[in-house]
Amino acid sequence: VALRFDGGLEDGRLLLLDQTRLPLEEVFLERRRAEEVVADLRRLAVRGAPLVGLAGAYALVLAARECLEGDTGSPRRYFEDLGTRAEEIASARPTAVNLRGAVTGCLRAAWTRKGGPVAVARGLLEAARELEAREVESSHAIARHATAWLGEKRRFLTHCNTGALAAPGLGTALAPIYLLHHRGAAVEVWVGETRPLLQGWRLTAYELARAEVPHRVLAEGAAAGLLRSGAVDAVLVGADRICRNGDFANKVGTYGLAVLAREHGVPLVVAAPTSTLDAATPAGDRIPIEERPDDGGTYLLATAGRPVGAYAPAFDWTPARLVTALVTEHGVVESPDEVRLAPWMADAGLQGGSGGGR
Ligand code: MRU
Repeated sequence: VALRFDGGLEDGRLLLLDQTRLPLEEVFLERRRAEEVVADLRRLAVRGAPLVGLAGAYALVLAARECLEGDTGSPRRYFEDLGTRAEEIASARPTAVNLRGAVTGCLRAAWTRKGGPVAVARGLLEAARELEAREVESSHAIARHATAWLGEKRRFLTHCNTGALAAPGLGTALAPIYLLHHRGAAVEVWVGETRPLLQGWRLTAYELARAEVPHRVLAEGAAAGLLRSGAVDAVLVGADRICRNGDFANKVGTYGLAVLAREHGVPLVVAAPTSTLDAATPAGDRIPIEERPDDGGTYLLATAGRPVGAYAPAFDWTPARLVTALVTEHGVVESPDEVRLAPWMADAGLQGGSGGGR
C-alpha cells in the first residue's frame, strides 16, 4: 500500500511510500503536517492521479487539525484559514483533476455537517476515508469491466505507472492486468520506460516484478516498431483528466502512443475512475499541462559541464477520436465523445466528491 492514514483527527498521521526512492529503497514517510504532504506531491514522492487526490484529501485533514490548534475562537477565521490551506493543497499539481476534485469534494461533504470547526474537521476525515473506499472499489470494478472487454487479449503495452502505486486498490490501467494474472491467464506486459522520470521503468517494473507478472521494459522510441510487429493486442493507459468531449491528459508520450496504435490498428484503452472526469473542461487544449523545471536537472544533461536546456512537459493530451474504449467503474464506453460521456459526466458532478462539476 503506497499511502495509509493511521489514527483519528487528534493523533492521525499519513504514511507515504516515497516513490522517488523506488525501486532501490522502500522508505515510508511519516507526515503530520499538511505542508509536508504538499511538498511530497510537488516532488512526486506520492503520484498517480487517484493517489494524488487521496493524498490531498488526507492533507486537508492535517490542515484542518492545524487550523484547530491555532484556533482564535472565531469560526469565521477558522474557515478562512482552512479555505486558504485547501487552495494550497489543490494547486500542488495542476494537471490531475483528481486533486482539486478530492479537496473540493471533501470540503463540500464536511461543510454539510451541522456544527463548528471540530465537526467540519471530523467530517473531512470521514470524507477522505469514504473517498479511499470508493477508489478501492472503483479499481476492482475497472478491472472487471476491462477484462470483459479485452476478451482473449493478453499482450499489452502500457505507459507510466498506473498500478497500486498510482491509485488506491489495484490501480487503473494495470488493474485488469492484475486480475487476468490472478485468474491464471498468461499475460505479457510491455512497459514503456516513461521519460524523463522513468515511472514505467522504476515503478511499473517494480510492481509487476513483485506480483510476478511477466514484463519487459522498452525505450519509448522502440514502441513504433513493437506496435508494427504485431506483438501488442492493446495499449492500456490511465488518465489524469478526461474532458467533457473525451479528450484526455496522461503522462507525456501517451499522445504519440495513441497515434501509433491507430496507425497499426491496435486498440487504445483508457482506464480511469470517474474521479478523473472533468465536466468543466470542454476539450484537451484547455487542460493545464505541468512542466518540469528547465534547470538542466530534469534530463541530467551536461555538455562540457554546461547544463542543457530542456523542453519537459509532464503530460500531453490525446484527442478522443484516438480512444477505442474508455473504462470506468461504471462500465465501458467505446469511441467516447461528448454525447456518449454525458451520463457519466452528469453522474460525476452529482457525486459531489471526487468527480466533475468543478
Ligand atoms: O506525474 P505522475 O507520475 O503523477 O503521472 C501519472 C500518470 O500520468 C498516470 O498515467 C496517471 O496518473 C493515470 S493512472 C493513475
